[in-house]
Amino acid sequence: MQISVLLALLVSTASSHVINPHAPQARAPAPALAPAPQYRPITASQAGPAIPASTGYYTESFGGGAYMVTDGSYQALFLVSTEGVIVVDCPPTIGMKLIYAIGNVTDQPITHLVYSHSHADHIGGAVLLVNRTQDYGKDNENGKGGRREEIVTIAHAETARLLSQVADPNRPTPQKTFRDTYTLRSGNQTLELSYKGQNHLDGNIFIFAPQQKVLMLVDVVYPGWTPFSRLGQVMNVPGFIAAHDQILDEYNFEHFVGGHLDRSGVRADVEIQREYVRDLYDNCAETIRLSATDDPVLGAANVLGPVAALNPENPWAAFDVYLKVTSEYCANLTNAKWIDRLAGSDVFQVENAETMIESLRIDYGVLGPFANT
Ligand SMILES: *[C@@H]1O[C@H](CO)[C@@H](O)[C@H](O)[C@H]1NC(C)=O
Ligand SMILES: *[C@@H]1O[C@H](CO)[C@@H](O)[C@H](O)[C@H]1NC(C)=O
Ligand SMILES: *[C@@H]1O[C@H](CO)[C@@H](O)[C@H](O)[C@H]1NC(C)=O
Ligand SMILES: *[C@@H]1O[C@H](CO)[C@@H](O)[C@H](O)[C@H]1NC(C)=O
Ligand SMILES: [Zn+2]
Repeated sequence: MQISVLLALLVSTASSHVINPHAPQARAPAPALAPAPQYRPITASQAGPAIPASTGYYTESFGGGAYMVTDGSYQALFLVSTEGVIVVDCPPTIGMKLIYAIGNVTDQPITHLVYSHSHADHIGGAVLLVNRTQDYGKDNENGKGGRREEIVTIAHAETARLLSQVADPNRPTPQKTFRDTYTLRSGNQTLELSYKGQNHLDGNIFIFAPQQKVLMLVDVVYPGWTPFSRLGQVMNVPGFIAAHDQILDEYNFEHFVGGHLDRSGVRADVEIQREYVRDLYDNCAETIRLSATDDPVLGAANVLGPVAALNPENPWAAFDVYLKVTSEYCANLTNAKWIDRLAGSDVFQVENAETMIESLRIDYGVLGPFANT
């Protein structure tokens, strides 16, 4: 439904309610604000492991004491060492389930929590882990005593800065921060943390377990799936594109943890997404190029003229239509190839195309009809 139609409907419903206090009591069903669209079904080969309904989470072992926990939408990582457990991220949707998943693998206490980046949907459960009273099995007389022990929290300096702007009690300020690299060693486990600049967000780090060849980078690559809306709510598209090469060129990994959905990935998943992103880039660049011609669908004069005529003195109006039409055109071009290759292509392709169109315009300077005249 068009927003204008929806607003008109809401306004007329509200005013008739006010104007006529004797309106019949029985109400028509409320108009659905969000219709329930039916997208393409997820095929058997696209579906990951089933999440047991009894627990709500699934634990995948990578060997050597490294595990991924997923609730189907979000993922966290943990490593069991000889001296305790290192956790990376605690998405609030997983929350306490992460503690149960760890408890079913080891009775070691959690000693470290690494924040992949500052976003609340990935570390908003930090408060559940930090300064928790933990059972220390053997250390206590009854074997269960429970001792309050501070968990060391580690993040990039930009993550600490972003968190200091909002003071969310669920995301305690990290105690240790770094700028370039940080090697976390605890007992027999090693995690190499590295920052390569802004991509999804400032402070979003590469997290590598060299012994198990597990690489974690959150909100960049979505194994088997189209990226989440707006290329995963990306802050820096050139940095996001570069991250695909950084993953493939700089890491000898076998398992990839992207922070989302139900399964981990492998190198091929990252290669496929790199190909998808290059296609999206090329298709959107071609779309902008066409919009600078007199193409009947995309030509700027054909698209903008009628909107501008209806909305004099309002340049936003024509620009909004330009972005919508070009995004949809680029999404159509992209879906022609990707709709069967990546799950969810029909859900977020227009939003992803719009993000790429805007980045091509303002980051890469591919301005089409708005270039130097
Ligand atoms: C480290 O120690 C833990 C606990 O004994 C064990 O489960 C894990 O496999 C070990 N990992 C490596 C890489 O040695
Ligand atoms: C093991 O997992 C189950 C199911 O999530 C949970 O109820 C139980 O508390 C866990 N055990 C430990 C020791 O954490
Ligand atoms: C955890 O507890 C210690 C000791 O009481 C305290 O100094 C520290 O600030 C607490 N950390 C958090 C994140 O609450
Ligand atoms: C995109 O494809 C849909 C479905 O085929 C079509 O209705 C729409 O007009 C297309 N949009 C553009 C801008 O070409
Ligand atoms: Zn994020």
